[in-house]
Amino acid sequence: MKPVENLVKDSIKNLKPCAHGGEILDAAGKSGFKREEILDFSSSVNPLGPSKKALEAAKNSFKEIATYPDSNSNELRQAIADHFDGLSKTNVIVGNGSTELMYLFAETFMKKGDTAVIPAPTFGEYESAVRKTGETPKFVKLDKNFNVDATVFAHEMVGAKIVFLCNPNNPTSILIPSETLTGIIEKALEQDSLVFLDEDFLEFVENEKALSMINKIKAYPNLFILRSFTKIFGLTGLRVGYGIASEEIINVLLCAKIPWNVNCLAQAAAVVALKDGEHLRVTRELIKNEKAFLSTELEKIKSFKVFPPDANFFFIDIRKSGLTATELKNKLLRQGILIRDCTSFRELDEYFIRVAVKTREENERLIEALKRTVKN
Ligand SMILES: Cc1ncc(COP(=O)(O)O)c(C=O)c1O
Repeated sequence: MKPVENLVKDSIKNLKPCAHGGEILDAAGKSGFKREEILDFSSSVNPLGPSKKALEAAKNSFKEIATYPDSNSNELRQAIADHFDGLSKTNVIVGNGSTELMYLFAETFMKKGDTAVIPAPTFGEYESAVRKTGETPKFVKLDKNFNVDATVFAHEMVGAKIVFLCNPNNPTSILIPSETLTGIIEKALEQDSLVFLDEDFLEFVENEKALSMINKIKAYPNLFILRSFTKIFGLTGLRVGYGIASEEIINVLLCAKIPWNVNCLAQAAAVVALKDGEHLRVTRELIKNEKAFLSTELEKIKSFKVFPPDANFFFIDIRKSGLTATELKNKLLRQGILIRDCTSFRELDEYFIRVAVKTREENERLIEALKRTVKN
């Protein structure tokens, strides 16, 4: 037989796995700490974990494990539609984490020779999803303050099939101003481009409802909005995310997706998580207070340039500390703390880190460790 390598499609052969935060097992292996001893600031999810009621719902659906889950997650799609005003189930698709929907979207719409425009730096899976289709993404660098430059973007997106945007952006924690966002979506509409708008972190932003584009899907039939149960809902390991768009877009994606993509425990937990308003309220309150605490404390480290965060994580330029992000990550890991070294992000050099907002006790441990490790 030929070497397997010779049998692989070129688009797959050249794929490189994308780096992520949250690699806690790897961190445990390297540091000698046990998995549960490591404080993970590299993954920006709800520090309180999921709703107890949602976990109970997952447990109660253990009995369903012996049968196939609902392939189209109908009950969950209805619950998501009911959670927002003016949506119907036909505007919703559910995925195995929101990441599945990035790949599904690119696979469904990218034809040979199409381009997809992606800002840089941003979440790395949009690039991998596009590359997996065999097409090449085009990157548009953010400006020096890590904002989308509306003029540059309008020029670069001409002729694109898909425009990927992340609001607020990972790893910068910065929102795209509404006028810029609307301008891009309208320009995309004029030229028949689709907009894939990742709002996975928007639920951590205070005026989420006013900033979300979910209520604009009727006006913009080219718009697909991504959301997740991984972030504020904390159902991270269960893998559930969803997309909201016109019925036409959703129908095509429903036909293209694999069957039974979301398991029964995840569907049951997500339905209940959406309804646990109290857990969301407590989480938002904690994030608000802890963001303020961390802002004050991080500002005291004079060798850090802290970008004001819109989401539940801080993006920090540490070049004046005399350490690279990899060096700082390794030094903190020896103290049982894991941060995101942002070196792997496109258009970032080796001096940027990202840290999540966690509980007071955990945040205090981070600050103490930073003060011990970094020159002021
Ligand atoms: C901006 C952004 N979108 C999507 C994802 C993936 O989320 P999910 O767990 O829903 O696949 C991440 C994960 O870090 C992310 O940062």
